[in-house]
Amino acid sequence: MVDAPKSLVETAFAAVARAHAPYSRLRVGAALETDSGECFAGCNVENASYGLTLCAERAAVAVAVAAGQRRFRRLVVATDCERVVPPCGACRQFLAEFGPDLEVFGVAVSETKRWLLRELLPEPFEFAPPGGPGDGR
Ligand code: THU
Repeated sequence: MVDAPKSLVETAFAAVARAHAPYSRLRVGAALETDSGECFAGCNVENASYGLTLCAERAAVAVAVAAGQRRFRRLVVATDCERVVPPCGACRQFLAEFGPDLEVFGVAVSETKRWLLRELLPEPFEFAPPGGPGDGR
Protein backbone atom coordinates (compact mmCIF):
# COMPACT_ATOMS: atom_id res chain seq x y z
CA MET A 1 0.00 0.00 0.00
CA VAL A 2 1.26 3.47 -0.88
CA ASP A 3 1.81 5.83 2.04
CA ALA A 4 1.77 9.51 1.05
CA PRO A 5 3.61 12.03 3.27
CA LYS A 6 1.10 13.11 5.93
CA SER A 7 1.85 16.82 6.23
CA LEU A 8 1.77 17.26 2.46
CA VAL A 9 -1.51 15.37 2.30
CA GLU A 10 -2.98 17.71 4.91
CA THR A 11 -1.76 20.78 3.02
CA ALA A 12 -3.14 19.42 -0.26
CA PHE A 13 -6.56 18.70 1.27
CA ALA A 14 -6.67 22.18 2.81
CA ALA A 15 -6.21 23.47 -0.74
CA VAL A 16 -8.97 21.14 -2.02
CA ALA A 17 -11.33 23.04 0.27
CA ARG A 18 -10.30 26.31 -1.38
CA ALA A 19 -10.67 25.13 -4.99
CA HIS A 20 -12.78 27.25 -7.30
CA ALA A 21 -14.55 24.58 -9.33
CA PRO A 22 -18.16 25.69 -9.91
CA TYR A 23 -18.27 24.16 -13.42
CA SER A 24 -16.75 20.69 -13.13
CA ARG A 25 -17.31 20.39 -9.34
CA LEU A 26 -14.01 18.48 -9.26
CA ARG A 27 -11.97 20.04 -6.46
CA VAL A 28 -8.22 19.45 -6.64
CA GLY A 29 -5.48 20.54 -4.25
CA ALA A 30 -1.73 20.26 -4.63
CA ALA A 31 1.12 20.48 -2.14
CA LEU A 32 4.59 20.89 -3.58
CA GLU A 33 7.61 20.29 -1.35
CA THR A 34 10.96 21.88 -2.06
CA ASP A 35 14.34 20.22 -1.57
CA SER A 36 14.70 22.34 1.56
CA GLY A 37 11.41 21.05 3.01
CA GLU A 38 9.21 24.08 2.38
CA CYS A 39 5.72 23.41 1.09
CA PHE A 40 3.59 25.40 -1.34
CA ALA A 41 -0.10 24.82 -2.00
CA GLY A 42 -2.27 25.34 -5.04
CA CYS A 43 -5.85 24.56 -6.03
CA ASN A 44 -7.70 24.45 -9.33
CA VAL A 45 -9.19 27.76 -10.40
CA GLU A 46 -11.92 27.45 -13.03
CA ASN A 47 -13.32 30.19 -15.22
CA ALA A 48 -16.59 30.86 -17.03
CA SER A 49 -14.44 30.71 -20.17
CA TYR A 50 -13.63 27.05 -19.48
CA GLY A 51 -10.33 26.91 -21.35
CA LEU A 52 -8.76 29.40 -18.96
CA THR A 53 -8.97 26.92 -16.09
CA LEU A 54 -5.80 26.56 -14.04
CA CYS A 55 -4.96 23.17 -12.55
CA ALA A 56 -3.95 22.79 -8.92
CA GLU A 57 -0.45 21.55 -9.77
CA ARG A 58 0.40 24.51 -11.96
CA ALA A 59 -1.00 26.89 -9.37
CA ALA A 60 1.32 25.37 -6.75
CA VAL A 61 4.34 25.63 -9.04
CA ALA A 62 3.60 29.29 -9.75
CA VAL A 63 3.34 30.09 -6.04
CA ALA A 64 6.62 28.30 -5.30
CA VAL A 65 8.51 29.93 -8.15
CA ALA A 66 7.20 33.35 -7.15
CA ALA A 67 8.59 32.65 -3.68
CA GLY A 68 12.01 31.97 -5.21
CA GLN A 69 11.91 28.15 -5.14
CA ARG A 70 12.69 25.95 -8.15
CA ARG A 71 13.97 22.70 -6.68
CA PHE A 72 11.21 20.28 -5.83
CA ARG A 73 11.21 16.75 -4.42
CA ARG A 74 7.61 15.70 -3.74
CA LEU A 75 4.12 16.62 -4.90
CA VAL A 76 0.79 15.51 -3.50
CA VAL A 77 -2.30 15.93 -5.68
CA ALA A 78 -5.45 15.48 -3.61
CA THR A 79 -9.14 15.30 -4.36
CA ASP A 80 -12.23 14.52 -2.30
CA CYS A 81 -13.43 12.07 -4.99
CA GLU A 82 -13.13 8.30 -4.79
CA ARG A 83 -10.33 7.98 -7.33
CA VAL A 84 -7.04 9.86 -7.65
CA VAL A 85 -6.51 12.67 -10.16
CA PRO A 86 -3.24 11.93 -11.97
CA PRO A 87 -1.63 15.15 -13.24
CA CYS A 88 -2.95 16.08 -16.68
CA GLY A 89 -0.60 16.20 -19.66
CA ALA A 90 -0.12 19.94 -19.47
CA CYS A 91 0.80 19.74 -15.79
CA ARG A 92 3.27 16.92 -16.45
CA GLN A 93 5.09 19.10 -18.95
CA PHE A 94 4.90 22.11 -16.65
CA LEU A 95 6.39 20.12 -13.76
CA ALA A 96 9.08 18.57 -16.00
CA GLU A 97 10.56 22.03 -16.44
CA PHE A 98 11.99 21.60 -12.96
CA GLY A 99 13.34 18.07 -13.29
CA PRO A 100 12.23 14.48 -13.92
CA ASP A 101 12.86 13.07 -10.44
CA LEU A 102 9.84 14.55 -8.68
CA GLU A 103 7.94 12.01 -6.60
CA VAL A 104 4.23 12.43 -7.27
CA PHE A 105 1.44 11.11 -5.05
CA GLY A 106 -2.23 11.03 -5.99
CA VAL A 107 -4.46 10.88 -2.94
CA ALA A 108 -8.24 10.41 -2.98
CA VAL A 109 -10.88 9.07 -0.64
CA SER A 110 -10.47 5.43 -1.68
CA GLU A 111 -7.03 5.18 -3.23
CA THR A 112 -3.48 6.49 -3.16
CA LYS A 113 -0.99 6.18 -5.99
CA ARG A 114 2.67 7.04 -6.38
CA TRP A 115 4.71 7.76 -9.49
CA LEU A 116 7.92 9.45 -10.51
CA LEU A 117 7.44 12.32 -12.91
CA ARG A 118 9.73 10.65 -15.42
CA GLU A 119 7.31 7.69 -15.49
CA LEU A 120 4.34 9.98 -16.07
CA LEU A 121 6.14 11.91 -18.82
CA PRO A 122 9.07 9.90 -20.21
CA GLU A 123 9.94 12.34 -22.98
CA PRO A 124 9.23 15.94 -21.97
CA PHE A 125 9.70 18.69 -24.45
CA GLU A 126 12.96 20.48 -23.73
CA PHE A 127 14.05 23.65 -25.42
CA ALA A 128 17.68 24.57 -25.67
CA PRO A 129 17.85 28.11 -27.00
CA PRO A 130 21.00 29.04 -28.94
CA GLY A 131 23.47 30.39 -26.41
CA GLY A 132 21.97 28.38 -23.53
CA PRO A 133 19.18 29.08 -21.06
CA GLY A 134 18.75 32.72 -20.22
CA ASP A 135 18.33 32.56 -16.46
CA GLY A 136 21.00 30.12 -15.35
CA ARG A 137 18.55 27.49 -14.02
N1 THU B 1 -7.54 19.45 -12.74
C1 THU B 1 -6.49 19.74 -11.94
O1 THU B 1 -6.54 20.64 -11.09
N2 THU B 1 -5.35 19.03 -12.12
C2 THU B 1 -5.18 18.05 -13.07
O2 THU B 1 -4.08 17.57 -13.25
C3 THU B 1 -6.35 17.56 -13.81
C4 THU B 1 -7.52 18.46 -13.79
C5 THU B 1 -8.78 20.24 -12.58
C6 THU B 1 -8.97 21.24 -13.68
C7 THU B 1 -10.48 21.42 -13.67
O3 THU B 1 -10.80 22.47 -12.78
C8 THU B 1 -11.01 20.13 -13.11
O4 THU B 1 -9.92 19.41 -12.59
C9 THU B 1 -11.72 19.27 -14.15
O5 THU B 1 -10.94 19.09 -15.26
